[in-house]
Amino acid sequence: LAKVEVELASIPEGKNVIIKWRGKPVFIRHRTQEEINEAKSTDWKTLRDPESDESRTKKPEWLVMLGVCTHLGCVPIGEAGDYGGWFCPCHGSHYDISGRIRKGPAPLNLEVPAYDFTEGDAKLIV
Ligand code: FES
Repeated sequence: LAKVEVELASIPEGKNVIIKWRGKPVFIRHRTQEEINEAKSTDWKTLRDPESDESRTKKPEWLVMLGVCTHLGCVPIGEAGDYGGWFCPCHGSHYDISGRIRKGPAPLNLEVPAYDFTEGDAKLIV
């Protein structure tokens, strides 16, 4: 199956990029230390779809997710919503800086696809 490679140096800290993978948007965020701290400090066991930030990332500074709302499939907007992550404008789902559902109708966190880093972490391969 087709793989997509992304140069990580092209994504500054605190920025999102969206790539296309198998016809779907994939969100990549280069998270700041502050965002990582926030994602890790959330009491994840109390969340609707309980997942730790550690279980959703291979390296805490890189968050990689399918850009498909788990409610009815709209594409959420980055740097929006009540939890500093993503907001789906279709019916008002709020995702946090780990892509976890926090408020609104979506039942599940944004899905993390299979991905890897090349040697030296120059590229991300989705
Ligand atoms: Fe995202 Fe309904 S499709 S909230």
